[in-house]
Amino acid sequence: MRIPFIAGNWKMNTTVGEAEKLVKEMVIPLDAIGGIEKVLCPPFVSLLSVKKIIQGFDVGLGAQNMYFELKGAYTGEISPLMLGELCEYVILGHSERRLYFGEVDDLINRKVRASLDNGLKPILCVGEKPDEKEEGRTEEVIGRQLRGALSGIEPTVKLTVAYEPVWAIGTGKAASGEQATVTVDFIREVVAGLWNREVASGVRVLYGGSVTASNVGEFVASSGIDGALIGGASLRSEEFVSIVSRTADLKGAR
Ligand code: 13P
Repeated sequence: MRIPFIAGNWKMNTTVGEAEKLVKEMVIPLDAIGGIEKVLCPPFVSLLSVKKIIQGFDVGLGAQNMYFELKGAYTGEISPLMLGELCEYVILGHSERRLYFGEVDDLINRKVRASLDNGLKPILCVGEKPDEKEEGRTEEVIGRQLRGALSGIEPTVKLTVAYEPVWAIGTGKAASGEQATVTVDFIREVVAGLWNREVASGVRVLYGGSVTASNVGEFVASSGIDGALIGGASLRSEEFVSIVSRTADLKGAR
């Protein structure tokens, strides 16, 4: 049984003060929605403040990135040990990291390994770019990203995969429920091939890209899609709470 899962990726938004205000607006309504995991991923500098505010509530915390080394002369980087004291999840391999910061599959693989070795749960993002979609290469690209990121990693249901087509991120042009379902099913097949079917059936797979309270139902109605990774809409407390609530209803979680 996979527990439905909604994570909010705040990206490079909110000062510490703004993050505190936002989380205070949503923590009580989020706590009230049962049978679903809800995780907030604010910027690094707000993790501690947000952690204090969600303490005692049924709301989890994640980071948006991480380096793979544990400590040392890596100016500006954040290690798994540092995150381990603060949060449970870490988003890895987001397309914005791949695009703007040159992250490649081998680096992402090291990060996935380091997260698991240090008790963090990775949310691994994969997805094709617009030209790759046009060329009909979606499965080839995603297969490569998954094989790269998971190479040599022991099978574990601590992994969550987020299918985030790059053309759908921040564009208001979400994939259709059907498109997302086909690719999410493909992702679980690839994981089954790399690991085994039993573990793959316990690995959660999310959809991300222009998800709102109005369209989340299209995705989570699909039995293979366990929830969503939300960008823009996770910065609006009422909308984020509605997304969680709708998902819990549709998944029959409460
Ligand atoms: P949007 O929901 O803003 O399209 O962003 C999706 C995303 O990249 C989440 O990680």
